[in-house]
Amino acid sequence: MCGIVGYLGKRQAYPVLINGLKRLEYRGYDSAGVALLTDNQELSIYKTKGKVADLEAFVADKDISGTVGIAHTRWATHGEPNSTNAHPHISSSGNLAIIHNGIIENYAILKKQLQEQGIEFKSNTDTEVLVQLIDYIRISKNLDLLTSVRLALRSVIGAYAIAILDKNDPDQIIAARKSSPLVVGIGEEEYFIGSDASPIIEYTNKVIYLDDGDIAVIRRGQDVKVVDFDNAEMNHDIKEVDINLAQIEKGGFPHFMLKEIFEQPDCLKDCMRGRINVDVNKVILSAIIDHRNALLNPRRIIIVACGTSWHAALIGKQLIENFCKIPVEVEYASEFRYSNPVINNQDVVIAISQSGETADTLAAVELAKSKGAFIYGICNAIGSSIARVTDTGSYIHVGPEIGVASTKAFTGQVTVLAMLALALGNARGTIKNPEYVKIIKALNDIPSKIEELLKENDRIKEISRIFTYAHNFLYLGRGYNYPVALEGALKLKEISYIHAEGYPAAEMKHGPIALIDEEMPVVVIATKNGLYEKVISNIQEIKARHARVIAIVSKGDEVVSSMADAYIELPETVECLEPLLATIPLQLMAYHVAVCKGKDVDQPRNLAKSVTVE
Ligand code: G6P
Repeated sequence: MCGIVGYLGKRQAYPVLINGLKRLEYRGYDSAGVALLTDNQELSIYKTKGKVADLEAFVADKDISGTVGIAHTRWATHGEPNSTNAHPHISSSGNLAIIHNGIIENYAILKKQLQEQGIEFKSNTDTEVLVQLIDYIRISKNLDLLTSVRLALRSVIGAYAIAILDKNDPDQIIAARKSSPLVVGIGEEEYFIGSDASPIIEYTNKVIYLDDGDIAVIRRGQDVKVVDFDNAEMNHDIKEVDINLAQIEKGGFPHFMLKEIFEQPDCLKDCMRGRINVDVNKVILSAIIDHRNALLNPRRIIIVACGTSWHAALIGKQLIENFCKIPVEVEYASEFRYSNPVINNQDVVIAISQSGETADTLAAVELAKSKGAFIYGICNAIGSSIARVTDTGSYIHVGPEIGVASTKAFTGQVTVLAMLALALGNARGTIKNPEYVKIIKALNDIPSKIEELLKENDRIKEISRIFTYAHNFLYLGRGYNYPVALEGALKLKEISYIHAEGYPAAEMKHGPIALIDEEMPVVVIATKNGLYEKVISNIQEIKARHARVIAIVSKGDEVVSSMADAYIELPETVECLEPLLATIPLQLMAYHVAVCKGKDVDQPRNLAKSVTVE
């Protein structure tokens, strides 16, 4: 995935680049590096295995002067994470440095061709091939850098966001994108480059979102010029980003994840603002008003997503089927894109993605679009690739999510899906008015109920401490709470590296029960809504095998709480919205277990927040 950042202007570049890398570290943290054109006209490259903090220590006694530079934080794909494979990569002439996010799929053949021309490679990366190719074209054909980049990119298959620095031209950075995000920030006599706007917003709110196939020429004293592979100039509006610094800082919390868990009441208010009106009992989603014909009577709806967003999709399926009576299928985007799916223009495809950049989800959208389906996006990152290729959609508006383990985006996605199901069900006449009104009111009350639940943080921390010893966890839930069980298990394994599985409670007896013994904590979502009695039977089966039960129960429940070894009470709400509450203690539990185990909560090993490669 990787994060890329660049600066050209009047300030010293290094502090801007390091700050920017810290903001983008959520995208990968296997290695970090920076290339600077220093005051004494050197192209200095410093890179090291590990995190941005390791890079800072590494450059402590180095020349970090200069007003132009590029920097990179890596999530390794080709080549192990060491300092040789770290970016930036330099061409054999020593004149060009490149940073890259993405994968060059035909790198092996290109590398062989370049080696046949006598070019020697230092790293095992696909990225080095690209910088060598550009420089080879430039030198052998005696071309300028822009032309060389255009020609090189024509022969490249794959995904990239790149930025290139030329030792002999300290006034220029060339950047390009295809299937990997890239934003150019425009300040006063200065320019910024970022994988997203987060490294840019403390300097300027004016940005250009590059499109696939764009090559941006950033030159001191000139306007940014964007061309395509044929050198035709591309017009781009300068957009204003609406993110402030406080949103991307920890604000007194020890970790982004905890901050984001605690932000959820406010985030969900933002998500519902202007969309839910309890005074007149209405849910208004502009997408449904603007695209009534396409959305009202589809043959079916297919939801595509990955990871946590896929769990939100499973809840969305139940909401839409219950209230809209439209059949809904939920697919992993990565499977859907290669499954030769039967779709046509009577289908609606909903793509859910926090980042709006997940490569598999983007590819699934493009496939569905090519087959004529109407595409609805549910994204968080404004202006992201998925948000831009969809026909319509609803942002979740929960603000930037930095912690790699998704929390507030999940509740935001479920909230949007609930509003979508309500608005669509109402428009189709498939939801009765009293139920519609009741759920609107309940949805409106969710933020204050989450606030109530968050007051249990200390108790949840205590419970988590007790169960930190475990090597395996089972999470059980039914109906609307089955995806919550999946999500609870995912949160735990992502950040504490404890093996955890989510299961529909009744399926336990078809396999997982064999794993249960006194060592295995079982988290059971056993609220009074839904199949309460049946879940009680499951708890009895678990207790009979001496496992310890952590139960998520309805407020005032004495039956399950007396059977459980630990319990957390949920405030009351309607059944279909219970996931918005039940997920909160599971997020907190995963967080506290990981902290107790001394794990890096915000940057868990091997993961990245935005998966822009297959
Ligand atoms: C990665 C992240 C997950 C996220 C998934 C999908 O695996 O670590 O937290 O749920 O990608 O991301 P998206 O941005 O498409 O929701």
